[in-house]
Amino acid sequence: MFSVLFSPNILANNSRVFFLKKKFSKLSWEDIRNDYSLHEDFINLESGYYNIVPKPTLDSFYSHVNNLNIEGSYFMRNKMKDRSKIINKKLSKFLGCPEDELVVTRNTTESLDLIISGYPWKKNDHVIFAHQDYGSMKDMFYQVSKRYGINYDIVSIPNNPKDDQEIINIYKNKINDKTKMIFVSHMINITGQILPIKKICKMAHQHQVEVLVDGAHCVGHFSFKISDLGCDYYGSSLHKWLATPLGLGILYVAKKKISKIWPLLASNIKSDNDIMRFDHKGTNPFHNQMAIENALEYIDKIGLSRKESRLRDLHTYVKKKLKHNKKVYFNSPSDSERYCGILNLGIKKISPEKLEKILFDRYKIFTVSINEKGVKGCRVTPNVFTNYKELDIFISSINKITNEIS
Ligand SMILES: Cc1ncc(COP(=O)(O)O)c(C=O)c1O
Repeated sequence: MFSVLFSPNILANNSRVFFLKKKFSKLSWEDIRNDYSLHEDFINLESGYYNIVPKPTLDSFYSHVNNLNIEGSYFMRNKMKDRSKIINKKLSKFLGCPEDELVVTRNTTESLDLIISGYPWKKNDHVIFAHQDYGSMKDMFYQVSKRYGINYDIVSIPNNPKDDQEIINIYKNKINDKTKMIFVSHMINITGQILPIKKICKMAHQHQVEVLVDGAHCVGHFSFKISDLGCDYYGSSLHKWLATPLGLGILYVAKKKISKIWPLLASNIKSDNDIMRFDHKGTNPFHNQMAIENALEYIDKIGLSRKESRLRDLHTYVKKKLKHNKKVYFNSPSDSERYCGILNLGIKKISPEKLEKILFDRYKIFTVSINEKGVKGCRVTPNVFTNYKELDIFISSINKITNEIS
């Protein structure tokens, strides 16, 4: 018996099974939390700006910095191009789009501003965007409006739409015969609301209007394929929910639209249909791009749909626990299909700025205040390292704050 149980063959098989299990099973939430160096002085509930990087990705990144500094120009001249192709291939597979419609950029701002500033605008062309869109892109529309004489309509998206059609109609009602483009956020950053991009694109294309999508918060946050959306242009930041080092983003341009956009930095690529005409960046920190592969490996160990469910569950947990507190209101949608990790809530009679300050000064919880028309509250953004214990501290802090107001 003894010899059967402990025969070297069985031991070898068992350890192989253990090794395979370890290799192919997903990380537990505790393992994931341990993969992060978290600040000891406060609870980080502000992963909306960017995501801090887990240690495995960070270690690989440091070694890329080191190796690049040894290989120097030799790497840049002989290896960078091929490495870049490998990274692009893996990234396009993750994003669900063809490789020849994707380039790596520095961030969403660069990706979207490249399209807005490089579009062949003519005087009196018309665009539609929303109050809830990100400021930098709105600023670029104001700039091209001054530069080329284009007109715009700014719509407003309700925090709790009745259905998708309500949102589609908001854009549709503003389309006129000069409308060239709708600029729309896939996820509104201040409330976390996810918009029905596929349906908006379908409607827009029926009116020969192109769609530029701001997906800053979507890549690595929840599951979707860019190609399924049917949009013309898509920009995102990888340093947000893919948790790459800072300074990485993507730009997707549908094949048939590549030739019409002027690159931000002129390139020596001869063909106007080649996506690489948007890739020219000058000398840049390529070790950043190398870490994309590591970030992809890490998210694979978590599982993207598992991450999406977890983030949505964390959001729902806070909402459920605070639902009965009559002094608390939510700026994020109630319908769970319209939100994921990002949550925005406010307390009646307390300004967003004051709430942010009380949470940090008194309870050591880091959030960010948002004080915009229709959205007054604190944005609370958990991450894969957030646990329910931290959320319980947040919930009890909110209850204590509301107990103190009359
Ligand atoms: C909706 C949205 N768009 C664009 C951006 C800009 O992203 P980046 O600063 O990475 O370019 C942000 C940043 O938070 C955002 O929330």
